[in-house]
Amino acid sequence: MVEWWLQALLWILPAYAGNMAPVLVSHSNLFGLRRPIDGGRTAPDGNRLLGDGKTWQGLLAAVAAGGLVGLLLDTWGYSTLQRGALLGLAAILGDLAGSFSKRRLGLTRGANAGLLDSMDFITAALLAALPMYPWEFRQIALLVVANPLLHRAANVVGYHLRLKDVPW
Ligand code: CTP
Ligand code: MG
Repeated sequence: MVEWWLQALLWILPAYAGNMAPVLVSHSNLFGLRRPIDGGRTAPDGNRLLGDGKTWQGLLAAVAAGGLVGLLLDTWGYSTLQRGALLGLAAILGDLAGSFSKRRLGLTRGANAGLLDSMDFITAALLAALPMYPWEFRQIALLVVANPLLHRAANVVGYHLRLKDVPW
């Protein structure tokens, strides 16, 4: 039995993999799927529905990465392929909701939206993960508080590895 905080991080790890995977593959065009999910469409407010930063490739990469991490964690009983894929999907749907909100606020692709950029995916992932595990309140609280820091750290690393154009 590992520490409660480590257990919480392991349970949610596929969601982080899902959130990071689109960036890792963003310089490729796998199966020609680096196409915007919104198909270039705009909303009545004149701004894009989601924007060019939200692609089919990213969505599939998130599900695949979540599933892969879930499969790895299955070795120690912390996840499964299915749970991981579901958390990857939830994370990327939360990310899409975040981008939809940013566009409605008039923020262009890649603009810094502060907490919205980090909390969108984790909120959706935690909702999906709630019925999967016997969460304690302190575990959820830890993930909510630590997420902006973890997200920021991952983005700074991604920026210096030239995977991301901006460190947020
Ligand atoms: N990405 C993708 N498909 C997704 C999500 C992300 O291809 N569904 C890739 C894009 O190359 C994107 C990068 O990952 O630019 C970083 O993701 P994110 O920061 O979420 O997107 P932004 O470009 O910042 O766009 P937004 O302002 O909508 O958040
Ligand atoms: Mg961004």
